[in-house]
Parts: sequence; C-alpha cells; structure tokens
Amino acid sequence: MTDLSHHGDAELADGLVDLAVNVRADAPPAWLRAVLHASVDAAASYPDPAPARAAVAAAHGRPEDEVLLAAGAAEVFVLVARALRPRLAAVVHPSFTEPEVALRAAGHPVTRVQLRGDDGWRLDPTAVPEDADLVVLGNPTNPTSVLHPADAVAALARPGRVLVVDEAFADTVPGEPASLAARRDLPGVLVVRSLTKTWGLAGLRVGYALGPAALIARLAAQQPHWPVSTPALAALAACSTPAARAEAEAAAHDLETWRATLLADLPPSVVVEGSPRSSFVLLRVPDGLRVREELRRCGWAVRRGDTFPGLTGDHLRVAVRRPEVSLPFAAALTDVVRAAPTPEEVP
Ligand SMILES: Cc1ncc(COP(=O)(O)O)c(C=O)c1O
Repeated sequence: MTDLSHHGDAELADGLVDLAVNVRADAPPAWLRAVLHASVDAAASYPDPAPARAAVAAAHGRPEDEVLLAAGAAEVFVLVARALRPRLAAVVHPSFTEPEVALRAAGHPVTRVQLRGDDGWRLDPTAVPEDADLVVLGNPTNPTSVLHPADAVAALARPGRVLVVDEAFADTVPGEPASLAARRDLPGVLVVRSLTKTWGLAGLRVGYALGPAALIARLAAQQPHWPVSTPALAALAACSTPAARAEAEAAAHDLETWRATLLADLPPSVVVEGSPRSSFVLLRVPDGLRVREELRRCGWAVRRGDTFPGLTGDHLRVAVRRPEVSLPFAAALTDVVRAAPTPEEVP
C-alpha cells in the first residue's frame, strides 16, 4: 500500500500514547512559549522577516540572500515543485513522501531511487540517474533513521542539477556531522530545515531553506507576500541563538541515550533496520500489521511503514521517547509479539 499522503499524525487517537509522530516535545519549552505569546501581542502589524532571516543566516554562516523563510519544510517542497521545471526529478526512497507528492502535483516526471534494507538503507550515489536535474533526499532519513555521510550526499551535487537535502531532522544528531547547511562550495544544493521536530512546533508551520541566492530568489518568487507569520518569525529568531542551539544539541545527546535504552529492551524477534541516528527507529516486526493493531488496543500508536515506497506491513516506525515511555512500550511490544499465533493456530 502506498498512500503518499499518510503521515504519523493520522495514527493518533484519544487515549493512545503517541510514538507515531516524531516531534520531540509535547509542547515548546517555556521560554519559547513566552516568545510566542509576546509575538502575538505584536500581531497587529504585518510580519517583518528581516531579524529572523539575519538570525538564521548568522546561525549557519551564510549571507542573508541565501536564506528562504517558509511555513515549514513542507512549503519549501511545494515551492521547489512550482519554481523549477525539471526534465527528470529523482526522489530517493524510502523517505518523507511530501516532496514526491508536490513534484507529481506540479506535473513533473518523477523517478524513484530505491535504497535497500539488505544494504542498511545506504545511499549509493551511482544509483541516482545521471540525467536527473532535480534530486531529493532526506538526511537523516525519515523513516529509516539512517544518516548518510556528508561525502555521499555531496557527491550528488553537480552543475545543472538542484539537489534538495531535507534536513528536517539534522538537529537530532549531536554535532550535525552530515549536514550540508554551511556548504556554499557545492553547486545547486538546497538544504531544507524545520523547527517542527526539535522545538515541538508542528502547528506553527515554520522552517527554512539554505541555498544559492539565485535559487532562493526563484523559490521566493512563488511565495505569497508575508508567507511566514509574526509568531513563526519570532520562533525562527529565538531558536537560532547560540543558547537555543546549545539546548538543541543537549537534547540531541539525550535522544542518543534514550534511543539506546529503547533498542536494548526490544524483543529478540524484532529487527532494528539500518543504524538509527535520529529521533525515531524503523523496526521490522513479524506480522507487523497485526502487531500494530494489537499495540493500538494496548494504548500505543506507532507509525505504519507500508505507506513508504519500499517498505512493507512488517515495518513500524517508532519515535524515541524518554525511558519512562519507551520501556513500558518495549514491554508491551514484547507481550504482543510473544502472543503471536503460531502457524498451527492461524485459520
Ligand atoms: C523528513 C521530514 N521532512 C519534512 C517534514 C515536514 O516538516 P515541516 O513540519 O517543517 O513542514 C517532515 C514531517 O514529518 C519530515 O518527516
């Protein structure tokens, strides 16, 4: 089943613990909520993007004309699809599906570059068609949680091609070792970032892109006037300070510990796909569709895998949470997997 518009939020329901959506926090931190509340007081005026653009540019060591502020990473994918006229767009899968949805909606030919689980979901740059003049991939990748080395991603950049690197989860990895956000030497690279995940801001709709000034200008030309609201701009400025970035870095370190705790407690019949590096893990669970349903009955929502091109009903994506949540989840999963009917019991 490949419903490209299915996302983790569709898995949620009252009474279920959310391990389906990869947003770190239930709510933005108190200091950020205070910034947002204050910005609402200033909302009578039209938004002024200048301070936020300057803050984002400074955080990534780039000139301001290489920064595009947007209503989330999702908007950037639509802008790319509307602004560019690719002869052939290549999308690396499995990955977040909205870029492909946006490209298809704009009528562009899309080819899928399918990475393989038996290869650890490793990026093989030679698998991307040479004639693709638009290439999209995620790093770290949703849903595999694999972090491709910067060199492998950079190898896809070339003159005459736009390379979109979805780094919505880059700040979940301590030190962001594979990020291309500061790389100005590579041709045509557009790095897409989001405040959604680390700052608990999915509902605010706020993100940005970094790339060559001419490309940024083409994308901006597709935006309406005032595309980013005053609260979203306030969040962008506040989350780009050294102190906020240090907080995100500390959170990324916590995530590493929490992820190790979760993985250590999974039942032996559950396979962890690839080498997870982000705030979620991709599991292969025998009889995954039934297991997912059983987990829901026990109060746990996990993200089905079979809507991602290249994955199956046995793939479940699970958000990394604090051990107080992860450990009871691992125990529930162990019980559900253990309760699987034996082949003789299956009618
Ligand atoms: C890999 C990836 N990129 C981008 C997004 C969308 O981010 P935003 O909320 O900034 O639009 C998501 C949301 O699930 C995602 O998983």
